[in-house]
Amino acid sequence: MKFFIDTANLDQIREANDLGVLDGVTTNPSLMAKEGIKGVANQREHYLKICEIVEGDVSAEVIATDYEGMIREGEELAALHPQIVVKVPCIESGIKAIRYFTQKGIRTNCTLIFSVGQALLAAKAGATYVSPFVGRLDDISTDGIGLVAQIVEVYSTYDYNTQVLAASIRHTQHIIQCLEVGADVATCPLGAIKGLLKHPLTDSGLATFLADHKKVNG
Ligand code: E4P
Repeated sequence: MKFFIDTANLDQIREANDLGVLDGVTTNPSLMAKEGIKGVANQREHYLKICEIVEGDVSAEVIATDYEGMIREGEELAALHPQIVVKVPCIESGIKAIRYFTQKGIRTNCTLIFSVGQALLAAKAGATYVSPFVGRLDDISTDGIGLVAQIVEVYSTYDYNTQVLAASIRHTQHIIQCLEVGADVATCPLGAIKGLLKHPLTDSGLATFLADHKKVNG
């Protein structure tokens, strides 16, 4: 399973990249706003900075919601850097735009996926990735990981190439569950990735090793 980091924060992207396990980055308009990045020129410059840090795919979301606007914006974003994947919301104009981008060889991430039907339309349009939002479904007492599992199974049954990118991951256990159900990618906050490292037996075991070493070696 590939690991993407779900942030527009350059320090966090660098930290995850330095761990040596990062395969890409996802951003969205809220994450860009959180970093205080205003204006089209600054946002595009920021995407380029992210592409300089990581080697993998970087999702950049269109703001337009009409077909022509999405096409214009998506083509501009894709032209910025070969690592850019155009992120498009799962609405009617978005599905049409994904079909257009697919025919042009522009890679896409169909976002705001909350049902297997939406994932089906995105795959039929040729999306490179679909992003089911696990945490936001859990927030409304619906099984987010269950949706990821359902999409993985449907894509496998019908041989769709679209990759399942589990998004809205809130904690380390979500990552483990994504592994178990066969997600292609999980995009996670830095804390959830680092949470995978933690085990009290590792900490106590290391403390004992170092103490024993010190007893003999001073
Ligand atoms: C990433 O692609 C999504 O936009 C993001 O994971 C949404 O996460 P949230 O539900 O925590 O805002």
